[in-house]
Amino acid sequence: MKKEKDSELMEKIVALCKRRGFVYPSSEIYGGLAGIWDYGPLGVELRHNIKQHFWNKFIAERDDVYGMSAAILMPARVWEASGHTDSFSDPLVECKICHSRIRADQTDIIAEHEAIHAKKKEKVEWSEPKVFNLLVETHLGAVEDEKSLAYLRGEITQGVHVNFKNIIDSMHPKLPFGIGQIGKAFRNEITPGNFLFRQREFEQMELQYYVKPDEKEPKEWFEYWKQFAFDWYLSLGFKKEHLRLRQHAEDERAHYAKDAWDIEYNTSFGGWKEAWGIHHRGDWDLRRHSEYSKVDLSYFDEEAKKRYIPFDIECSGGVDRAVLFVLLEAYAEDELGGEPRVYLKLSKNIAPVRAAVFPLLKNKPELVAKAREVYKNLKKTISSIQFDDNGNIGKRYRRQDEIGTPFCITIDFETLEDDTVTLRDRDTGEQRRVAVNDLSKEIK
Ligand code: GAP
Repeated sequence: MKKEKDSELMEKIVALCKRRGFVYPSSEIYGGLAGIWDYGPLGVELRHNIKQHFWNKFIAERDDVYGMSAAILMPARVWEASGHTDSFSDPLVECKICHSRIRADQTDIIAEHEAIHAKKKEKVEWSEPKVFNLLVETHLGAVEDEKSLAYLRGEITQGVHVNFKNIIDSMHPKLPFGIGQIGKAFRNEITPGNFLFRQREFEQMELQYYVKPDEKEPKEWFEYWKQFAFDWYLSLGFKKEHLRLRQHAEDERAHYAKDAWDIEYNTSFGGWKEAWGIHHRGDWDLRRHSEYSKVDLSYFDEEAKKRYIPFDIECSGGVDRAVLFVLLEAYAEDELGGEPRVYLKLSKNIAPVRAAVFPLLKNKPELVAKAREVYKNLKKTISSIQFDDNGNIGKRYRRQDEIGTPFCITIDFETLEDDTVTLRDRDTGEQRRVAVNDLSKEIK
């Protein structure tokens, strides 16, 4: 099997995503919008499966974590309290020749830009770096005065912190406990790019885990969540050597972080890139929201009989980056039966289609009827089953391989005699006969 590790891989993924209904450029018929993408029928299933896997492991299967869903629009005051209006910014430089604006710390993009001008025998001069805030603002209500200023959330985190008291009052949790959430975030990125990697509208999956603010507990929980998040990421189907944990240098950390580690993926387009962050946020958020809102966001520890503001250990992952990295990892080309093929080696738990059911021949009503029956029965317990009778069987296999369907089930004349089908494995192309009654167990 040939595994691409070059920048062409990204082009192939973008093309496959569009061709097969995973991801489309947003508002394409109007020329698109930089840094914004739309998910098609298969992409939305893949993304949903990743989010569901997050929700199960970080929230639903645990006794110490609650789920919630906060609004996207939040008043400006929230972002003053969280420090984002002051510190959520990137340094921006402007090319004095063509006025392109680029992030001053993205040396690779700067070099690319200079090379474009160099080809025209031009030497680029850059403006002094300016601070550029990434929050996306909007105005609510009929009068555009200061009162109506609101921001689309720059991280989903703050929706959890501002509900800390509501969760305490309604659910009465004991520390340590967490609040998990999935949802859209918005950043006016200076240079969006690399497909789903850096967007202006994207989705995050996060956990804020509140712990006693002593010396020991935050450190232990930080280590716990670092490993938990890493293992979860691996379970999306990555090779261990393609992921690593890296600690942020002090000058790299966000304004709220006492310690920060990233899970990074070794990408084909630019080496190690951030997939996920684990942050020790201390009491930064709850303390600041207490100060700014004048509402006490402390916790009463019944055992110790004292009040304090808990520390927060955060797990923060990008949903779209997970989709992109999963696709980069899964993309494969090989030769099967003497023909070249492209396939996605997606793990069966996140593949948009778990199995496709085919009648061997479309024009044999008895095969079609039996295939429909098998399809309907499987679909009762596994919703992501597809029926396909289009084109010859070889073409159907290739189509399913290209979207990462782990299993293909073919109903042939033997099925009508002994109630067995062929079950084909996507990666090896091998087929074996399986009893219809055992199918759901085999593809589970
Ligand atoms: N609440 C903490 C927080 O937002 P972050 O490191 O800024 O931390 C967390 O973002 C994750 O969100 C990143 O690891 C990345 O996966 C994703 N992310 C951040 N900016 C993104 C962007 N512009 N496009 C796509 N995903 C992004």
